[in-house]
Amino acid sequence: MVATTDQWISDRTGIKQRRIAAEGEVTSDMAVVAARQALAMAGCRAEDLDMIIVATVSADMPLPSCAVLVQAKLGAVRAFAFDVSAACAGSLFGLSIADQFIRAGQAKRVLVIGAELLSRLVDWTDRNTCVLFGDAAGAMVVGPTPDAKRGLMSTHLHSDGSAAGILTIPGGGSQYPQSEEVLSKNMHKIAMNGREIYKFAIRVLPPAILEALDANGFRVDDIDHIVSHQANARIVESVLERLGVPLEKCWMNLERYGNTSSASLPISLDEANRAGRLKEGDLIAMMAIGAGMTWGSALMRW
Ligand SMILES: CC(C)(COP(=O)(O)OP(=O)(O)OC[C@H]1O[C@@H](n2cnc3c(N)ncnc32)[C@H](O)[C@@H]1OP(=O)(O)O)[C@@H](O)C(=O)NCCC(=O)NCCS
Repeated sequence: MVATTDQWISDRTGIKQRRIAAEGEVTSDMAVVAARQALAMAGCRAEDLDMIIVATVSADMPLPSCAVLVQAKLGAVRAFAFDVSAACAGSLFGLSIADQFIRAGQAKRVLVIGAELLSRLVDWTDRNTCVLFGDAAGAMVVGPTPDAKRGLMSTHLHSDGSAAGILTIPGGGSQYPQSEEVLSKNMHKIAMNGREIYKFAIRVLPPAILEALDANGFRVDDIDHIVSHQANARIVESVLERLGVPLEKCWMNLERYGNTSSASLPISLDEANRAGRLKEGDLIAMMAIGAGMTWGSALMRW
């Protein structure tokens, strides 16, 4: 479809495979599959949920939110539901919102989902982007713990809107509403300056991790695992090298899924857990970065 090679893609990004949603499958369908698995693992019924947050930039439709569609499909009748738009950092932003509601006593069972169907938003004639993104969903059930030594310790969120232009879908909103021109110029598809994102990511992610450690009185060596958004293997390697964290401490799955945007953080956490990598008491540092730019970190005692 485009002038590229498997060699170029794997050398520059670490990606070997990507998943594409079935025809007719929509974002909320994928979100519900992930949500059911998370609910089963948490031993929680959909009816017991207080709140559903779906982090997505590729919802089923502009209105209403993906989260209310998920709520209806799950039968989570008590929950209020809304979407979070923070691109690839969306699940981290969602987790932070869940944490604040739980700490404030406003919610006890929160479902945080990252779900993206970006294959319908990439320009399949643009080799800069179409080789990177895959479709996926991941979900987490978040709740209070009586054990003060375990759970989410803090989240640290950041945004820099002055860098908004480096990763956009410019058409289809109030600035460039759908029109023949928007369609003919592919303005309804993802446009990206990959090199600028790369530089931005390796500049801001190490301080975000250090900020999380400082806030809780830990040092880099105390980290047992890094759970990172999977955008590009070289970004992760470079960030860990700057921090002085061995790469073996980071769960990598980019080679199988590509960049799955907001889905990548919950999927990585789940895979590391199911693989038996996370032991009770382990210190987990999470980091994510996405369009906006948006980025942040979280620290958790497993
Ligand atoms: C996209 C990315 C892999 C490109 O790697 P890079 O080393 O920065 O490469 P450049 O963008 O400088 O491009 C180098 C050349 O490769 C070409 N190229 C881009 N995509 C290509 C592809 N799929 N196949 C072959 N060549 C490609 C470019 O056109 C450019 O050619 P030119 O020099 O003739 O113009 C890298 O910048 C990246 O991963 N950035 C982060 C993107 C990201 O994570 N986005 C999501 C944020 S959450």
